[in-house]
Amino acid sequence: MNQPTTKENADMSAQLDKAQKSIDRLFATRNDRWYPQCHIASKAGWINDPNGLSYYKGRYHAYFQLNPYGSEWGNMHWGHVSSADLVTWRREPLAMAPTLEVEKDGVFSGSAVVGDDGRLTIYYTGHRWRNGVNEDEGNLQEQCMAVSSDGIHFEKKGVVIPCPDDKILHFRDPKVWKMGGLWYMVFGVSTPAHRGEIWMYTSNDMEHWTFDRVVYRHPDPEVFMLECPDMFPLEDKWVICYSAMGLKPHGFEARNHNNAGYVIGSWQPGGDFQQETEFHLWDDGHNFYAPQTFQAPDGRRLVFGWMSPFTEPIPMQEDGWCGQFTVPREVTLAGDHLRCLPVREFSDLDQDRQDFGSIELEVNGSQDLVDDAQTADIAMEIDLAKSQAERIGLEIHRTQSGDHTLVCYDDQLGRVVLDRHCNTYGDRGYRTAPVDKSSGKLKLRIIVDRGSIEVVINDGLEIMSSYSFPAEGPRGIRLIAESGEGKALIDSLSIARLGTIWEEPDR
Ligand code: FRU
Repeated sequence: MNQPTTKENADMSAQLDKAQKSIDRLFATRNDRWYPQCHIASKAGWINDPNGLSYYKGRYHAYFQLNPYGSEWGNMHWGHVSSADLVTWRREPLAMAPTLEVEKDGVFSGSAVVGDDGRLTIYYTGHRWRNGVNEDEGNLQEQCMAVSSDGIHFEKKGVVIPCPDDKILHFRDPKVWKMGGLWYMVFGVSTPAHRGEIWMYTSNDMEHWTFDRVVYRHPDPEVFMLECPDMFPLEDKWVICYSAMGLKPHGFEARNHNNAGYVIGSWQPGGDFQQETEFHLWDDGHNFYAPQTFQAPDGRRLVFGWMSPFTEPIPMQEDGWCGQFTVPREVTLAGDHLRCLPVREFSDLDQDRQDFGSIELEVNGSQDLVDDAQTADIAMEIDLAKSQAERIGLEIHRTQSGDHTLVCYDDQLGRVVLDRHCNTYGDRGYRTAPVDKSSGKLKLRIIVDRGSIEVVINDGLEIMSSYSFPAEGPRGIRLIAESGEGKALIDSLSIARLGTIWEEPDR
């Protein structure tokens, strides 16, 4: 690995110091009205993709794409938090700043593995603009490597896979694993013909990599890039997931600016991936992108997504920060789908759970449940078979102005709806998720934070993640039934407050 792959433009610790000072400056005036209590976010600045998710030396490590210099995308660094138990998180020093010539315009996304020498080894993309200023003439991207003995301080090793063709405009986001004595890497490529592909490389020694195959090519010619691909085994299957650029909305599907999903199939080392299912979205909400999975020490497959605020207005940007992760979720196989459930540890944040028992609401009836919930973990079961109301659900983040986000079952659609049309702040619009009604019951778990809502449907068969920025004043939760021939029957309903995930309070 020689020049210019390791040519240094700057000293990393000086760059990290400078970036940390900027975070501290932004933090001094951070407005906390929507800043999360129980989701990972940077102390200040912009974040996007989860990076380098791993378990190393007794702690979980979550790194993330970070702009320490403002609350918009740019100047990509890696921020870092860690946890012993997936519940309580510690802010760690910033991990990576651009210092090499090949990453002059950003240290982009990547993954982490514990290397053969026991060091935490990260693979990431060194990014440069071809024209030196913006994406108009494309990107010059190369896969790079860095190592660490503590997960905190990294030593860069430079480029391990250069971009083989200057007509390739996107070439990034390596995800690495080891199997049968061999290292595998997949990353996203936009080919000279603008097709979205995932390329696979292999290595014996973690430094020298050989092209193996195009392991996945998106069938839609409009999909020009597959960002943040991931490939992992689940029971006897393999899952390939990616964040597709160029996918067009159709019906209820793929309504976000960019959309993350997966296909399930079979794969053997040295062979092609055999796709066996349709493409499914990971999440049906407004804000979910660039998920990354990793394996917990007990074997569970876990995933964090980035709650992507793609559509303007993005009001948290005025508050000195922007972007949060979803809660950590466990991924399991459910037929031709993935089931995603908040990890069981998340329930350790529960406080003062209030049990409302079973509730019967008259047509167009309502019941105020909580006057002011900054955070909540709501569990409810609706008897669909016996209810006749047309919509049954909860107005969340309900303020005196009448602002709220509605999460309900809609009997006309036969789907769960998350509707933000009564929001003053942020993008509005609704998203829906399909519901299996065969049991006659609908089980919802709703995790509410100061600026977000996650809806877990029927134990994670579907899940929706959306920002919801409440207006001023107390934030109530109200149960509602709307229209229809008769009552709404709620078998059970309980609401807990959620404690903070941070080991040390920010202030
Ligand atoms: C996805 C992405 C990645 C890239 C990173 C840059 O959100 O565009 O493809 O590595 O963000 O911040």
